[in-house]
Amino acid sequence: MSNQNIYDNQEFFDGYKKLRSNPLVANDVVEKPALFSLIPDLHDKSVLDIGCGYGENCVQFLELGATMVTGLDISAKMLEIAKNENSCPNILYINKSMTDLNEITEKFDVVLSSLAVHYIEDFDKLVKDIYNLLNQGGYFIFSQEHPLTTALLTQDYWTRNSENERIHYNLTTYALEGERKVTWIVDGVIKYHRTISSIINSLSSSGFIIEQMLEPIPSTDIMKQYPSYKKYIHKPDFLLIKVRKSN
Ligand SMILES: C[S@@+](CC[C@H](N)C(=O)[O-])C[C@H]1O[C@@H](n2cnc3c(N)ncnc32)[C@H](O)[C@@H]1O
Repeated sequence: MSNQNIYDNQEFFDGYKKLRSNPLVANDVVEKPALFSLIPDLHDKSVLDIGCGYGENCVQFLELGATMVTGLDISAKMLEIAKNENSCPNILYINKSMTDLNEITEKFDVVLSSLAVHYIEDFDKLVKDIYNLLNQGGYFIFSQEHPLTTALLTQDYWTRNSENERIHYNLTTYALEGERKVTWIVDGVIKYHRTISSIINSLSSSGFIIEQMLEPIPSTDIMKQYPSYKKYIHKPDFLLIKVRKSN
């Protein structure tokens, strides 16, 4: 089973770092505000952040009242930044793949994951492992690349007019689930496409109660100021889901 660690590839790592240093990156403008809008009261809660990257969210979870945050990531390079820039006595960083969550014996009140689960082939196993890691009544909240984005086998995403404006999205192969090899910073980045119904069915068949879903778009002001963000009118880039383990 594929378990790619692309963030430890130096060329990818450098390119990703550059991309994230742009204050107008979609992660900061669109995805993170949506993710944080789903987070329950974290006071006195233990949190696991899956695919924590630089650990920026881990620090924010502590600021929101969490007592203990564990940040897990497959990439030693990402965790090196986390440990250098976002280290706190109540944050523990673990270098581990989320395919091995079943090896963790501790339980958590909230499991969060920002833009990482689409790197995993076996979503059913991941969801079952997360269910087992949660205390009763605990939440799993995650964002991922939207299935309308992961669907395509080619990267011919948009049809444009003569002014180079996007006029519609070229949705193809939505029903064909599985591996997608894309060029993003470097060639050969592996992601997995699942339909929305597959994702929801994995969550509900594991016992989770679906509480909320979001497909966020930027504010009108942002779209006016930065016209490239108008593409969200046609297609969301992110899917966010909040589920609860019943009491
Ligand atoms: C797009 S980055 C997001 C980082 C962070 N969550 C954020 O929002 O800033 C995806 C992260 O998922 C991690 N990742 C990818 N596959 C993983 C796996 N199998 N297990 C754990 N982490 C993984 C990557 O190393 C990377 O740090």
